[in-house]
Amino acid sequence: MKISVSILGTELINLKSVLQSLDPQVVDYIHLDIMDGNFVPQLSFGESIANEIARATKIPLDVHLMVADPEKEVPKYFEMQPSIISFHIEATHAPLRLAQLIRSKNILAGIALSPGTPLESVEPLLEEIDLVLLMSVEPGYYGQSFLETSILRAQKRKSMIDKSTDKSTDRSTDRNTDKNIDKKNIIIEIDGGISAKNIARVKSAGVDLAVSASYCFSTPDINSNVKKLKA
Ligand code: DX5
Ligand code: ZN
Repeated sequence: MKISVSILGTELINLKSVLQSLDPQVVDYIHLDIMDGNFVPQLSFGESIANEIARATKIPLDVHLMVADPEKEVPKYFEMQPSIISFHIEATHAPLRLAQLIRSKNILAGIALSPGTPLESVEPLLEEIDLVLLMSVEPGYYGQSFLETSILRAQKRKSMIDKSTDKSTDRSTDRNTDKNIDKKNIIIEIDGGISAKNIARVKSAGVDLAVSASYCFSTPDINSNVKKLKA
């Protein structure tokens, strides 16, 4: 199980020291929650702060765009060369084209699904995406409680992916830049309310990558909290 630490858990003013304190041997990704005050009520930060973060760390970046009009927003995050860019399927009418564009930049393309969005909606896209980001809270705020239905959603999503990858053995995977995750599979990422209480069940459900903000920042030693989640 890999962990993506969401910096929403810290105040922006402390960001530099927080980034410097993260151990690249422990923290697999830094998760950047981009909120536009439109697709979700809150506003977080945009590409200029994201670029500063990219310059301040060597840990791979996992960009989660909670924005309306992702066609316009996605290209702003190419320059910082993140490992992953995920956008919400609820926010776009052209998910295939957008996923192809992200992959053409050697970045993993992720589709994010809010808790109420049917899992089947990503089915037609599986050939063109690298990751499915299942929200386990409603997008927009950190510190919410984990929605238990997410376990079942992860299990179902996993078996749907397994079935479809069985069918198409020639899936082109050479654009996948993450050497640490099995290239044949579509990565399942979960986001929201992750803690030491639910991480084992999340892992058993087939999740590869879990995002955490409030649990990781619940005490000053973020690396040790990430280790607890991994244990
Ligand atoms: C929610 C964000 C999450 C959030 C996770 O809109 O996408 O990444 O920061 O925070 P916790 O771990 O506190 O639920
Ligand atoms: Zn997120």
